[in-house]
Amino acid sequence: MAPLPQLETLFERPHGSPVPLPGPLRDCYGGDLSFPEGRLVFANFVSTIDGLVSFGLPGLAGAAVISKGNAGDRAVMGILRAAADVVVSGAGTLRAEPKVTWTPQQVYPQAAELFREMRRARGLPERTRVAIVSASGEIDLSLAVFRSPDVEPLIVTSVAGAERLAGRTGEVPLRAVGEREPSMRDVIDAVVHETGARLILSEAGPTLFGRMLEERVVDELFLTVSPHVAGRSEERRGTSLVEPTAFHPERAPWADLLSVKRSEDYLLLRYAFRR
Ligand SMILES: NC(=O)c1ccc[n+]([C@@H]2O[C@H](COP(=O)([O-])OP(=O)(O)OC[C@H]3O[C@@H](n4cnc5c(N)ncnc54)[C@H](OP(=O)(O)O)[C@@H]3O)[C@@H](O)[C@H]2O)c1
Repeated sequence: MAPLPQLETLFERPHGSPVPLPGPLRDCYGGDLSFPEGRLVFANFVSTIDGLVSFGLPGLAGAAVISKGNAGDRAVMGILRAAADVVVSGAGTLRAEPKVTWTPQQVYPQAAELFREMRRARGLPERTRVAIVSASGEIDLSLAVFRSPDVEPLIVTSVAGAERLAGRTGEVPLRAVGEREPSMRDVIDAVVHETGARLILSEAGPTLFGRMLEERVVDELFLTVSPHVAGRSEERRGTSLVEPTAFHPERAPWADLLSVKRSEDYLLLRYAFRR
């Protein structure tokens, strides 16, 4: 196995209790990965220096184009997925990245056995639970996330979306919340009800992340800043970390910095949103 990347910890604030990481993953992360007690929703993104999470170009809209596949970023994504009881993503991200299954071993195959060990130590099932959130129910059920033997999928949609999907989901469980546009609070409650999850990783895109911030249901953000500038023009807007939600400065979410790590020229930031 190629050696794992080693993150350098530049700043760390004490925060909760560590999840057991196998030695090589602990060395890679640059120490313990800790979470506070109780239910926690934490999002993960990689952005350019100018805050874009997608170039928004056909075939080049995915997160890997932003990260350029940095090994440290990918290893941390794997660790976060392996630590999570469930991964939540959105229909928009699924359409842009149709091959993604949100398993730790897909993003960082070199550490597949270590991720399995990590999940066993936490008493988690080997298969990754993945919840896909859609308002419309326009979901392609032939995609890898619904067929992979490594995934236990779940669809959360609106009542209208569930009607559209009726009879097509096979063994994939379907939960309907809200008439047309589910609130993220209801989505997270449905996911917790279905899976019993405590640690909920969101890998949804800027639309659902914005909704989560608006409804104050996301607790933390792991944000990798890639040493990359995308720029913007009328013709080429790309996609920023949060949109189309816009906050008034007096009500804009504010966060405390929890940790800063470095992988080559990438910065891995962790924030906790204030309530
Ligand atoms: N750089 C990164 O780290 C990163 C991470 C994640 C995603 N991305 C990128 O972000 C882009 C996708 O962004 P996105 O914002 O479209 O994806 P998203 O947030 O994952 O999904 C948006 C979808 O959520 C559904 N939805 C459910 N409830 C909703 C509600 N109440 N309000 C609005 N929508 C609701 C809608 O699905 P329906 O259309 O089915 O109704 C909507 O299209 C892709 O290019 C992806 O690669 C980048």
